Amino acid sequence: MENLISLVNNIQRACTALGDHGEESALPTLWDSLPAIAVVGGQSSGKSSVLESIVGKDFLPRGSGIVTRRPLVLQLHKIDEGREYAEFMHLPKKKFTDFAQVRKEIEDETDRETGRTKQISSVPIHLSIFSPNVVNLTLVDLPGLTKVAVEGQPESIVTDIENMVRAYIEKPNCIILAISPANQDLATSDAIKISREVDPKGERTFGVLTKIDLMDKGTNAVDILEGKSYKLQFPWIGVVNRSQADINKNVDMIAARHREHEYFANTSEYKHLANRMGSEHLAKIMSKHLEQVIKSRIPGIQSLISKTITELEMELSRLGKPIAADTGGKLYAIMEICRVFDQNYKEHLDGMRPGGEKI
Ligand code: GDP
Ligand code: NA
Ligand code: MG
Repeated sequence: MENLISLVNNIQRACTALGDHGEESALPTLWDSLPAIAVVGGQSSGKSSVLESIVGKDFLPRGSGIVTRRPLVLQLHKIDEGREYAEFMHLPKKKFTDFAQVRKEIEDETDRETGRTKQISSVPIHLSIFSPNVVNLTLVDLPGLTKVAVEGQPESIVTDIENMVRAYIEKPNCIILAISPANQDLATSDAIKISREVDPKGERTFGVLTKIDLMDKGTNAVDILEGKSYKLQFPWIGVVNRSQADINKNVDMIAARHREHEYFANTSEYKHLANRMGSEHLAKIMSKHLEQVIKSRIPGIQSLISKTITELEMELSRLGKPIAADTGGKLYAIMEICRVFDQNYKEHLDGMRPGGEKI
């Protein structure tokens, strides 16, 4: 099944790489029909920290105030061996092995679009990470929901961010990672508010509770984590990310994960929940869920892919020869990926009814 997510990942990448060219074909529809996971929540609720711990790498700009100002579409590709590296869509020939440079490039590329302001832009940055230590996933980091405009921001920023987030999460193929900080009342959670709007039954929302270590003494998150405060279809997952002090002290990811593990295992309130808490567990659950969603969507994806292949063939013959090597190459590449999908997943299709239900 890992191959399946990875194939979908490749199609998503190819769709994006084609850019404008894709608009003439079924590619945008294909892209929209492929599932992805979007991370939503209030500003500084811990969204970027959660993403980083899922990846197990430091590479995102993080901190107080508005840091994430453009959507970041992050694709994780599991590779069998070799050194991990990252690639940006806007810098296709450059392999990044230093993840501090990845962070810098995200910041620079954000500024290129918005200037060095506190403004936001809905134009996404596309980043791929290739590593033996990741699970295959597509994740989208979004700017944090906020209540008021700060100096340098237009008054409309509050609704602008809300609309941008909504545009991602209202798509039925979007899996929502709703991030709420445990040191604030759940009733005031921006993540819960907006995800309830688009997914009232909680069928595609995963509740993640951050900052459990920062709760007032004498209080705990057991009711929330047991689903007694706000029920979702899926169990809540609690995490303990690195604090700002940890980040300033350069506490590394492995040490942080270890400490998180200890925290849940050794705190008397959470001991009984420990095996379903933490970032590592979250990453596994998300990958497993994504697999299931893709599996159930194979018939739909496959028919779109057949349509895409036909359209790409038409497009190629329309362009005729000689065509720009770049464009032609990309079209051929995506056609190949689509063909592999088409051939390899016939058997899954055979085992399913048209509605996607398993027989
Ligand atoms: P975002 O704005 O939602 O992306 O939030 P960030 O991930 O940038 O986190 C905001 C701040 O909260 C950073 O200084 C993090 O170090 C801190 N933080 C996030 N999660 C936790 C947590 O679980 N525990 C503690 N102590 N600090 C956290
Ligand atoms: Na922040
Ligand atoms: Mg952020």
